[in-house]
Amino acid sequence: MAFQSQIKAIKGTQDVLPATSVQNRFVESTLLEIAGHFGFREIRTPVFEATELFARGVGDTTDVVQKEMYTFEDKGGRSVTLRPEGTAGVVRAFLEHGLFNEALPQKLSYVIHCYRYEKPQAGRYREFSQFGAEVFGTASPAADAELISLADSCLSFLGLENLRLELNSIGCPACRPQFHAALGNYFKTRKAALCPTCLERLARNPTRILDCKSPVCAGIAKDAPAGLDYLCGDCETHFAKVKLYLDALEIPYQVNPKIVRGLDYYTKTVFEFISGDIGAQGTVCGGGRYDGLVEELGGSPLPALGFAMGLERLLLVLRAQKAELPGDTPCQLYIAPIGEAASLKAAQLCADLRASGIAAQFDIAGRSVKAQMKYADKLGARYTAVLGDDDLAKGAVTLKDMQSGEQSVLELANFDEAFERIIIQQATRELQDMFGAEGMELSSLLGL
Ligand code: HAM
Repeated sequence: MAFQSQIKAIKGTQDVLPATSVQNRFVESTLLEIAGHFGFREIRTPVFEATELFARGVGDTTDVVQKEMYTFEDKGGRSVTLRPEGTAGVVRAFLEHGLFNEALPQKLSYVIHCYRYEKPQAGRYREFSQFGAEVFGTASPAADAELISLADSCLSFLGLENLRLELNSIGCPACRPQFHAALGNYFKTRKAALCPTCLERLARNPTRILDCKSPVCAGIAKDAPAGLDYLCGDCETHFAKVKLYLDALEIPYQVNPKIVRGLDYYTKTVFEFISGDIGAQGTVCGGGRYDGLVEELGGSPLPALGFAMGLERLLLVLRAQKAELPGDTPCQLYIAPIGEAASLKAAQLCADLRASGIAAQFDIAGRSVKAQMKYADKLGARYTAVLGDDDLAKGAVTLKDMQSGEQSVLELANFDEAFERIIIQQATRELQDMFGAEGMELSSLLGL
């Protein structure tokens, strides 16, 4: 059989097929759960928002706003945009629903799809997903370190290796103008060599030149003034304390004065976790403090900070490192009925088994026993049972362990309980085989 769709997925989007979606789900739920241990609660915001939110929030000098947004007019004539990132929407929801009235600091986490019209390549997509975490209502450097520690815990719990944490401080509205002026002067004297985009950036926001991918601009940017040399006393103390906490938490980092981040809202601490294992798009996590954004979006001044991790990149790293990731829920029992009466019974047995949390399937295609057994084999069913009229008459059926070949006869009257006992015995045996005497203890601890 061959089916060919004429319509293909849009460039830069990806289908997550059943064989891998289980891995995505595992990563997403693990991250939300770890964040839960740090006191983060999940928030869900709309996929599209008023365009103005991103223009004001993310900043209209950024590449994201200038070139990469999926913006359109809806049928009511409003300009709406598919979210290019999560922070602006979370801040809007935080303000709109008065979450600032709840206990502060408030910690929110999310798993979302984002949309950016970027040039697709490995690790860079037009639709991608992020796990993000935002903290509202604390200016303390302890919060910066706590947030970095959350990102670090997430990445190491998932088993990502060879990551480096790069850290910088980009100052605050009190000291940044001096840095911008120094940067502007530096690039003005080298104007002739800059690319046309950087010439525009020079007029609007010279820090954006530090992000330019053109080798010539990057070469010039290498010797540009560093923001760290322009920090005011407050920013300097804040940065020193963040480092102190990271040292106390034994989280290694490298100070990289060139990290400026691609979004306008950052103040003080910025950081990135970078992998060397997946090529040019190696930044798996990026974030920082954004003490001015809540006010920018209409709230009272409230310090805040956060990060987001690109889930596709995270999975790319895990796969490149051949990390162990979960597979599909295995089929524990496949019942192959012969005839209609057996099929009805198989449907009932499966319903009972599933209610007890057992993954059971039976034939729903009316196929021969041979075809059914082939299918059970493809599913990787651990046990099978062929159910015929004579089994119904006897009130018992033969169960086959597809790994050992062992057979046992189970009564149909209490089939689900009997089958449950069998899989518990099997789990106990496997634990003991794996861990010896400790496995015995473990299985009794688990009540197996
Ligand atoms: P960002 O650095 O733009 O920050 O994105 C965060 C992460 O999302 C990146 O480090 C990367 O892993 C992933 N990512 C970004 N663009 C793409 C893409 N086109 N394809 C695949 N993955 C991508 C933010 O979005 C901020 N909202 C983070 C934040 C939260 N800062 C404070 N709070």
